[in-house]
Amino acid sequence: MSEWYERSCAKLETLRNKKDILILAIESSCDETACAVTRGRVVLSNVIASQIDIHKRFGGVVPEIASRNHVMSIVGVVKEALAQAQVAAEQLDCVAVTYGSGLLGALLVGVSFAKAFAYALDKPLLAVNHIKGHIAANYLAFPQLAPPYICLIASGGHTAVAKVEDWDSVKLLGSTQDDACGEAFDKVARVLGLEYPGGPKIQQLAESGKDCIKLPTPLKDEKGYDFSYSGLKTAVINYVNTARQKGVEIDRADVAKSFQTKAVDLMTDTALRAAIDTGSKKIVIAGGVAANSYLRESMKAKAAKRGIEVFYPPLKLCTDNAAMIASQAYNMIISGRACAHEDLDAVASIAIES
Ligand code: KG4
Ligand code: ZN
Repeated sequence: MSEWYERSCAKLETLRNKKDILILAIESSCDETACAVTRGRVVLSNVIASQIDIHKRFGGVVPEIASRNHVMSIVGVVKEALAQAQVAAEQLDCVAVTYGSGLLGALLVGVSFAKAFAYALDKPLLAVNHIKGHIAANYLAFPQLAPPYICLIASGGHTAVAKVEDWDSVKLLGSTQDDACGEAFDKVARVLGLEYPGGPKIQQLAESGKDCIKLPTPLKDEKGYDFSYSGLKTAVINYVNTARQKGVEIDRADVAKSFQTKAVDLMTDTALRAAIDTGSKKIVIAGGVAANSYLRESMKAKAAKRGIEVFYPPLKLCTDNAAMIASQAYNMIISGRACAHEDLDAVASIAIES
């Protein structure tokens, strides 16, 4: 082990008792190059270079193009994050980076940069689980929020219900057996001719639509908490394609509204049931789909009837960003689970619990 590693381990021990830990975090798991600086739970800067406009024309994220754009953007994004935070790199207590899950090539850019940056500055390097980062976004918005609680995770790659037992300890209760919910939003949007990313566009279109199209209710796991989205997604695609073949005009807003209602109700019903079964009085929503206004409102309304409080991050912290990665790094430090890394690698798929 290197001297850098030894010094990092010792430093992390002392950081646990420090109040205002200064963290620089990097996130590059998909199509956002992001860097944030936080002091404790206070966000000093949260810079995001989005590649959405680049990938739009392909109808989705092209992995190699994403990696190349991360390579081009990362230095500028990190410099900007430090400048906005008015923090010098030498003042930082540690560097954190998303190491999984995500697109491998995209993750590697963030991991390689963070490793070199931490090594050059002689700071500890922390490896953060992207999904735990999404959950931790909530602590930035609600400093009084504390585990345990039930968490509904809904992103482009994951749909799951989990029990957050402690700052860095998550127990999976159920998850999608096929597609993620965000993926279904994106695919349905595509068949309706809407631009990538489809989730926000479906939400917008659904505002003027009616929930009047009969769609199959996806797998309802009455005993457990698993989901299935591929049947619902395929039913919508078949509905649209059959109508087109017959030359029948469809009301796209009604399709968007009917799909959104089924997709969201499945998640909110399952999260509510998990909270009731476990006696939890708090439900937290995390991930890109947490930006969906129907999800936010209906989860709140259903939970209120049972005396359960609902939390979700502000829009900027729902989709991928680095402040949430810093918040999770902070969790790892205060729970004594942070360890230094000198041989960190990127991993395309890691368990939510890891
Ligand atoms: O968490 P995220 O930013 O990236 C991943 O970690 O996957 O989630 C991206 C997903 C996309 O599928 C996008 O369509 C969806 O979140 N999304 C939404 C909304 N905003 C983003 N889905 C539904 N309604 C929205 N308002
Ligand atoms: Zn994400």
